[in-house]
Amino acid sequence: MKHIFSGKRVLLCVGGGIAAYKTAEVVRRLGACGADVQVAMTPAACEFITPLTLQTLSHHRVAVDLFSSTDEATIGHISIAESADVVLVAPATADLIARMAHGLANDIVTTALLATRAPVVVAPAMNSHMLAHPATVRNLEILTGFGHRLVASDSGELACGYEGPGRLPDPDALLAEVAAALCAKDLGGVRVLVSAGPTREALDPVRYLSNRSSGRMGYAVAAAAWRRGAEVTLVSGPTALARPRGVTCVDVNSAAEMKEALESRTGASEIVVMVAAVADYRPTARASSKIKKSAGAGLTLVLEENDDILAALAKIAGPRVVVGFAAETDDVVRHARDKMVRKGLDLIVANDVTKPGAGFDTETNAAVLLGADGNQEETGLITKDELADRILDRAIALRGRS
Ligand code: CTP
Repeated sequence: MKHIFSGKRVLLCVGGGIAAYKTAEVVRRLGACGADVQVAMTPAACEFITPLTLQTLSHHRVAVDLFSSTDEATIGHISIAESADVVLVAPATADLIARMAHGLANDIVTTALLATRAPVVVAPAMNSHMLAHPATVRNLEILTGFGHRLVASDSGELACGYEGPGRLPDPDALLAEVAAALCAKDLGGVRVLVSAGPTREALDPVRYLSNRSSGRMGYAVAAAAWRRGAEVTLVSGPTALARPRGVTCVDVNSAAEMKEALESRTGASEIVVMVAAVADYRPTARASSKIKKSAGAGLTLVLEENDDILAALAKIAGPRVVVGFAAETDDVVRHARDKMVRKGLDLIVANDVTKPGAGFDTETNAAVLLGADGNQEETGLITKDELADRILDRAIALRGRS
């Protein structure tokens, strides 16, 4: 199964700041995601974390010495620069940023950065005043002008005792930025609206009806669209997932709340992907106090149907691609095609939720993509990230036709 980083060569350039210790986790996580990580360190970085630590985690000798006759043959600045698919500079200190901005080449890191043609992601981390200094601000603007991808530092408690911006973002954020740097921006500026997760239909103040949706598929679509340059809004029912980076998130509970949140945003969207597992029914009445157990009497719930959100969204005027999902247990393609026609969709992603590894609460999925244009594609078992990209590929193709 292919991960976003499978087979990708990441050059991690470590600068000499206290946050250098955090790069150990970044290397480990990139490796676990299938990346081949080569580390280069400035002499100052070696004062904060040992090359041996990063060598052990990356399984490669770390490049530290520009003038080593043995290293230059294997991990020299040109070879590490040329073999990289993407470069991450973390932590990018004020000094390293200044040297990068002015084209200095006085250590292995800056020489490799001058020599590489790969996209470069820069994650500054330093004291807040150093970050706000006009010299640093101007140098960062120069790096942006080179086309480098800047990762805004986090705010919080800094090692120097200050409170404010300057913290190195956590490994999740850095990996998301590196993954985005690897992607073509074929959804640049396109407004994408995604729904995800289950809905909760309240019975009383403490109970609700819901389903097993984890939200993973919808979050994967939102994250993939962001990586490809889209402006993404994610309307999500309750999930245990971290919010995807770069995405505007709107939290909802019930199907009625989800409908309102989506309807008000569909007009401004060019692609709508409805992944949420919306509850088909809600209790007719919500008890205002906790329903009490009445010994042995049993309990009958009276339910009424929720509106079909997707069918309503597909009717909203405007040139847009509307994508739905179909969770089926039998006769998958026929039922999904019926749903696509009935709800007026451009594309439907059908999956047999009884198949192992497909559907709810798994990392993987296996689907059939059915287009209103007659196109039909079976994906086989793939990761939800891969499926997200396939759906977006089809949505882009359909946009071209509309
Ligand atoms: N959907 C929706 N509003 C609902 C129910 C479903 O918008 N009240 C959307 C889902 O988000 C999904 C698509 O419709 O994109 C199909 O959902 P699914 O549960 O497979 O189908 P249903 O329409 O609920 O039909 P059935 O339960 O009969 O299979």
